[in-house]
Amino acid sequence: MAENLLIGQGSKVEMYEALLPQIEGLVSGEEDVVANMANVAAALKRTFDFFWVGFYVVKNGVLVLAPFQGPVACTRIKFGKGVCGTAWKEAQTIVVPDVEQFPGHIACNSASRSEIVVPLFRDKEVVAVLDIDSDSLNNFDETDAKYLETICRLINIRD
Ligand code: SME
Repeated sequence: MAENLLIGQGSKVEMYEALLPQIEGLVSGEEDVVANMANVAAALKRTFDFFWVGFYVVKNGVLVLAPFQGPVACTRIKFGKGVCGTAWKEAQTIVVPDVEQFPGHIACNSASRSEIVVPLFRDKEVVAVLDIDSDSLNNFDETDAKYLETICRLINIRD
């Protein structure tokens, strides 16, 4: 199953196109959100070797660290704070080409240079975010946003 995931082959679009059906397969048979977030984080990390891939879930009005792959990270992020809290507040994907240019960026790790944060919705309300950090500048673009938004829609948040 996950062992079949492609690692760094082809263009970014080809890698996402290969990954998408595998993620569909991983999450379609499982209703537990934590299990699905864990596998999605692992699949993205293994495919793209991102520096950090993980989820923050809204709990009692704050984003709390959820399944992730990579170095230890900040556990709680407030509404409107950092890239994650801003994506939550604005309810939209945020691409940050250079984290040093993003006012209020929260540096969980100094190696992070660029970042993308994609919200997950339930009934039009943001209930979690997917956060991906790269140790290269300008790593993320509209292609990442499009595919990661599709991947986030596959995670059916019910609880
Ligand atoms: N940089 C994020 C914080 C989370 S870590 O990158 C894992 C932010 O500014 O919200």
